[in-house]
Amino acid sequence: MAPVSAIVHVGMSVREANQRDVLHRRAEAAGASLAFLQHGEPSLVAELDRLADAGVDSIRLEPVVVGGRSPARSWLRRVAGHWLRAGDRRATILVGDSEVTGREAGLTSPAWQEVPSHTRHLLVCRGPRCQAQGADATAAAVDDALGDLGLGDDDVLVTQTGCLFPCNNAPVLVVHPDDTWFGRVDADEARRIVVDHVVGGQDPGDHVLPRR
Ligand code: FES
Repeated sequence: MAPVSAIVHVGMSVREANQRDVLHRRAEAAGASLAFLQHGEPSLVAELDRLADAGVDSIRLEPVVVGGRSPARSWLRRVAGHWLRAGDRRATILVGDSEVTGREAGLTSPAWQEVPSHTRHLLVCRGPRCQAQGADATAAAVDDALGDLGLGDDDVLVTQTGCLFPCNNAPVLVVHPDDTWFGRVDADEARRIVVDHVVGGQDPGDHVLPRR
């Protein structure tokens, strides 16, 4: 029987998960399927399972990035290598033209054993309403502001989330443990919140959302 091959476009970050419909059409036009390294569905391992169960012998993974930063391409190899080691399904997996061997670095690291020592936790909503109203710029501004201040995950942990509910105030940003919710956080406001409030300790300002 002739070998069966497939191509999978893999969205690498939350940006791609939020562009699912566009990327799905693009994948279909290219004769590929679509999967996501994070946030979106199907996950990469679920798609590998599906293709292997369908009898596909050779699977080529093509990373898809819609602007901005994304995880390193090596994560495709690590996740695919994990899939090869962990399951009983078999297929040849290529990232570009390079075959995944199963000897790639694993999904654990001593650095990922413990909860970070951060003092603040920022939730940046990337749900559909926030995303449609500039959450990508909000998230980028948060990252840039923290980077400019030399702060990392052990200082201020940033998590991108699905819908947090007060969508009418999109884009939404939450600061914990203060439990302060901010609305209409464009890039300038995101930077102000990080620099003046989260780090500088100043008043949260007039973008704070009221509680029910
Ligand atoms: S989509 Fe952001 S709060 Fe609902």
